[in-house]
Amino acid sequence: MAAITPVSRDSNLYLYKGFCFLKDMMPPEFIDSLKDFKIRDDDIFLITYPKSGTIWTQQILSLICSEGHRNGTEKIDTNERVPWFECQILNPDVDYNSLPSPRLFVSHLSETFIPQGLKNKKAKIIYVMRNPKDVMKSCYHFQAIVNLAEESPDFKHFFEKYLDGEVLAGKWFDHIRGWHTHKDDYNILFLKYEDMIRDLRSAVKQICTFLGVELDDEAMDIVVKRATFKEMKTDPLANRENLPGEHFNFKAGSFMRKGQVGDWKNIMTVAQSELFDKIFQEKMGDLSLNFCWQIPQ
Ligand code: A3P
Repeated sequence: MAAITPVSRDSNLYLYKGFCFLKDMMPPEFIDSLKDFKIRDDDIFLITYPKSGTIWTQQILSLICSEGHRNGTEKIDTNERVPWFECQILNPDVDYNSLPSPRLFVSHLSETFIPQGLKNKKAKIIYVMRNPKDVMKSCYHFQAIVNLAEESPDFKHFFEKYLDGEVLAGKWFDHIRGWHTHKDDYNILFLKYEDMIRDLRSAVKQICTFLGVELDDEAMDIVVKRATFKEMKTDPLANRENLPGEHFNFKAGSFMRKGQVGDWKNIMTVAQSELFDKIFQEKMGDLSLNFCWQIPQ
């Protein structure tokens, strides 16, 4: 087994093959076993670096794939419809192998750990990315809600921790690079959070086309309406508030915080932003990827 390294700024995490895992919930033997998880041709995986629009896309997927979710006859949380692949400990009563098809999973895993069966290019992956400055800001606030990570005393501390990858999922740069570099190995659709903000309907249509699902105008209207930030904030099935209370403190906030592009400007200093831009250029400059850092109001 590859070396396991403790994380200096967070005792709840460990570093393994370049990824930061939760110590109590994701043991390395289990994580390694996921490579052999039996993939079905109609499986759908949503993959994100944390705080990039995961819960949003879970909601969209769930609304597209389930009529009962659209018309409100099936009262099952999105979190159960689209379970967290590498955190099966949160769903101890569910056997992921026996779930009915088509199975929907959500994962933050890097490409290194993903089931080999996905390389048959039949099962589908939707990868959502978001500009890393907003991801950082969102992660910073999320610390107050989640009891699984050590809270940084201030943003300066968190800024350094994030750049060093001492947060769940490790370095943002590595996650994006890994998936982008291996994109041709998978049947994968890349989406950007900012494009979803600009034109949600087009994003929903793109997902439908990728999944081969045809929705009539009425169904499409429902998906788009119920996936807006405003609707999701008050939709008990869309939020993850059923997650175990010992790990999450929803009194301190929610997954639905601001949902904006460019919120990083409200916390990052000019010096931090310039340093980030320099590192971004060094690490990502050779990739054909553009990010939107702000949308004028
Ligand atoms: P902010 O903290 O910047 O508000 P994840 O689900 O990957 O943890 O990402 C959470 C981020 O997605 C939060 O960002 C949250 O507000 C945002 N988000 C969730 N649902 C959204 C929606 N319907 N529209 C826009 N942003 C949404």
